[in-house]
Amino acid sequence: MSRSVCCAFVLVMVACLSLPALLLADDTVCIQCHSGQSGSLEAPIAEWRTSIHAGNGISCHDCHGGDPTDFDMAMDSERGFIGAPDYVDVPAFCGRCHVGVFDAYRVGAHGEAIDEGGAQCVVCHGNHAIQNASLDLINEDDCSQCHAYERAALIRLSLVETDTMIIAAERDLDRLYRLGFAVDDMQGSLFNQRNSFHRIFHGVEVERVRQETAGVQSELGKISEEVAAIDSTLGQRKLWGSVVIGLFLLAGVIFLLVRKTYEEEEKS
Ligand code: HEC
Ligand code: HEC
Ligand code: HEC
Ligand code: HEC
Ligand code: HEC
Repeated sequence: MSRSVCCAFVLVMVACLSLPALLLADDTVCIQCHSGQSGSLEAPIAEWRTSIHAGNGISCHDCHGGDPTDFDMAMDSERGFIGAPDYVDVPAFCGRCHVGVFDAYRVGAHGEAIDEGGAQCVVCHGNHAIQNASLDLINEDDCSQCHAYERAALIRLSLVETDTMIIAAERDLDRLYRLGFAVDDMQGSLFNQRNSFHRIFHGVEVERVRQETAGVQSELGKISEEVAAIDSTLGQRKLWGSVVIGLFLLAGVIFLLVRKTYEEEEKS
């Protein structure tokens, strides 16, 4: 009897201790009240939990506005609530945070054609379950819904080429860093190139994408030249290193031979 009381006590303690952690993740009135709703009012919560936004602490109110601490006033426009955006308002809605992408997007073919059905952010990335972006988003199924895939395929091709160069450069700089070389400058330049590269796509114009990826590729080319220069001194060092080791070995062998001959002479 006393044992089960003890067990119950432990269970209550464990529940109490883990409660704050659970609450912390869901500690907004938005999530509390919407959890008790149904259909499209409740569904965003489970989807959002899987998203890169949830992983980075971006919650309902960061996108929709409103007051996450006040049950009654949460969705009042006086507390900054902006609700769910219409189709054409989505780019500015997301662009409050993704400024660089928004700038590239709005002067591109999709941004300019948004009133005639141009794709916007949510069409490609989704809304509540947004994940890390990659070139896999450019594929025949998704990109041939509104027009032919041909131009999309050309864009994908130039991007994949540059993406491969970026990945190779990252690997090279990582290797040189671990060997003790100062690669800060090259890493800084790679970081900038990577950032501007990942925005280029949103302009979706074949010629512009080609021109801009060419610019990025030429900067990446400079990095790989520097890497090659370091590698070649590294190669020479290795060569001299092996020559020195070879000489040492040779000296050792000669020493042994001399000693052997000396010992044999002593014996006889
Ligand atoms: C007390 C319950 C409650 C709270 C708290 C609450 N909501 Fe809602 N929310 C609702 C209900 C009910 C609806 C549907 C009816 C309506 O639009 O008023 C709704 C609708 C919405 C919509 C859709 C509006 C549209 O234009 O279609 C969004 C977005 C939303 N809520 C976000 C939030 C955010 C963000 C918060 C916290 C800052 C929040 N809600 C807090 C109950 C709540
Ligand atoms: C990354 C920004 C973002 C976050 C975070 C976010 N939403 Fe939304 N939400 C949107 C967008 C954009 C729409 C407009 C729907 C569309 O265009 O697909 C929307 C629409 C809605 C709607 C209208 C119904 C629907 O699905 O269209 C509700 C309700 C809603 N969101 C609730 C929430 C709740 C609750 C949370 C937190 C769990 C949340 N949202 C988090 C971007 C966001
Ligand atoms: C036609 C489809 C499409 C549309 C519309 C679109 N995106 Fe993208 N987005 C992509 C693709 C594809 C990538 C990956 C590009 C790459 O890796 O170079 C991407 C990448 C991103 C990234 C990651 C950038 C980085 O630095 O890694 C963000 C953030 C993003 N998009 C936000 C947005 C926002 C905000 C909008 C609306 C203004 C939008 N996207 C519109 C397809 C789209
Ligand atoms: C309140 C600021 C905010 C809003 C609004 C917002 N995001 Fe984000 N978003 C972030 C943060 C922070 C990250 C994680 C850090 C990063 O990768 O930039 C992120 C990450 C992303 C990524 C992954 C980027 C990558 O590196 O692959 C995509 C795609 C994205 N958001 C799209 C959107 C879309 C589409 C909308 C509108 C529906 C939106 N975001 C609205 C802040 C925001
Ligand atoms: C919701 C519909 C829709 C979807 C989905 C869509 N697009 Fe578009 N796209 C348009 C519209 C509208 C235009 C402008 C009219 C035109 O040029 O066909 C356009 C134009 C383009 C152009 C032509 C730009 C130029 O050179 O003038 C390219 C490239 C393009 N889209 C790429 C893509 C890619 C890549 C995807 C998939 C990631 C995609 N689109 C998905 C609607 C869409």
